[in-house]
Amino acid sequence: MAPRAHSVFRCGECGAEQPKWGGRCESCGAWNTLVEEPVGRTAGRADRGTGVPSARPPVRLSAVEGGGVARWRTGLDEFDFVLGGGVVPGSVVLVGGEPGIGKSTLLLQCAARLERAGVSTLYVSGEESPEQIRLRADRLQDDAGRVHVLGETRLEAIMHHAGALGVRVLFVDSIQTSYTEALEGAPGNVGQVRECAARLMRFAKESGPAVLLVGHVTKGGGIAGPRTLEHIVDTVLYFEGESSLDHRILRAVKNRFGSVDEVGVFRMTGAGLEPVPDPAAAFLASRVTGVSGSAVTALMEGTRPMLVEIQALATKTGFGTPQRVATGLDHRRLALLLAVLERRGDVAFGNLDVFVNVTGGVRLLEPSTDLAVTAALLSSVANRPVPADALFLGEVGLGGEIRPVAGVERRLAEAARQGFRLAFLSARSRVALEGIEVVGMAGIGELAGRLAA
Ligand code: TYD
Ligand code: MG
Repeated sequence: MAPRAHSVFRCGECGAEQPKWGGRCESCGAWNTLVEEPVGRTAGRADRGTGVPSARPPVRLSAVEGGGVARWRTGLDEFDFVLGGGVVPGSVVLVGGEPGIGKSTLLLQCAARLERAGVSTLYVSGEESPEQIRLRADRLQDDAGRVHVLGETRLEAIMHHAGALGVRVLFVDSIQTSYTEALEGAPGNVGQVRECAARLMRFAKESGPAVLLVGHVTKGGGIAGPRTLEHIVDTVLYFEGESSLDHRILRAVKNRFGSVDEVGVFRMTGAGLEPVPDPAAAFLASRVTGVSGSAVTALMEGTRPMLVEIQALATKTGFGTPQRVATGLDHRRLALLLAVLERRGDVAFGNLDVFVNVTGGVRLLEPSTDLAVTAALLSSVANRPVPADALFLGEVGLGGEIRPVAGVERRLAEAARQGFRLAFLSARSRVALEGIEVVGMAGIGELAGRLAA
């Protein structure tokens, strides 16, 4: 694309400005970080500094009205929970996720519910026509009839209509299909995505509507567009899950108006998304007990403990190099645990293919799940199930030592509530809970002994 005379290019890494595009930033040397930016924006910034008084004069902090932020509750409980209690007026929320995961469905349901609560909405789609949106709406349990819809991709037109209707919540599906006439680049290129997000942010702060944006994710899992997009908006939510499975997890990775790392759990049904009432237990629902290679652990998802099952299968390698396949956990973590088991636990994996799977499409991000992965591996190799009511909680170190994890009490309490009676922990975890027998272990050798006993 040929740069226009009134554009500059800014590096997404160091912020340096360059007059022309290049593959590499001349200031910091980063590759592929230059993004087109209209000069008008810089001019706008300068205006503010030259004589035009700010609309609101500075005030003492004590004179600012405090208290809780006003919020609009959608009544989709898990969604409100992840946001920190509902949609904050004037905020910009980005909902990212893979195609087909249910982002449009989620936001249309939000719109329907907000309308029912008396909050006016406009749902703009650059991906689907109003007729297609209507088809989706007809499937939903929520009545979306009152929601205004618009098929539009030009940002100026979108903001014009939102302003003219005076809506309180604007939905833009998606940020990658929107474009501003201020830039020449095609919709979806990083400059466009970033500028559109920045303009919507200003629109939200100046005119007061909340803006909920859909963002597509790249293969790497990030929201397509520059990293800076996540810095621009107030809240970033990721909608994840296996599209072939029913469960969907909505995760807050950034939230200026609530806590991060909170997750909400939904089920995709024939009539839209349904909040799961007992998310802590949702992922164990289809567990089969008495099978070797299965172990349960408790994750902390934000403030909530959640029980998940880890399955391992170790089988003789047919030919060639043994396979290592990890679904739902980092394959390097699996390699580490296998190496520790070999060296510290005397379990040979040299001629075994190893498959590890976290059920329900959950992803393990904490090392506190190491002990459960290890137990599942040992159980599969020995072809002997672990006790069905046992929970495993601990981080495994390179020396084979088992380390305590944070929030043990909360995790154990949840396990007890769900009928677990035995907990394998680090010997250094000092907990006692009525109804659960705690087995403290120093190293994985001890775990192997316990499971064989
Ligand atoms: P969609 O919201 O279009 O996903 P995204 O916007 O993230 O690309 O939803 C995708 C899937 O959800 C689609 O395969 C159909 C399915 N679906 C249901 O199972 N039930 C429903 O009620 C709806 C509306 C969609
Ligand atoms: Mg969609």
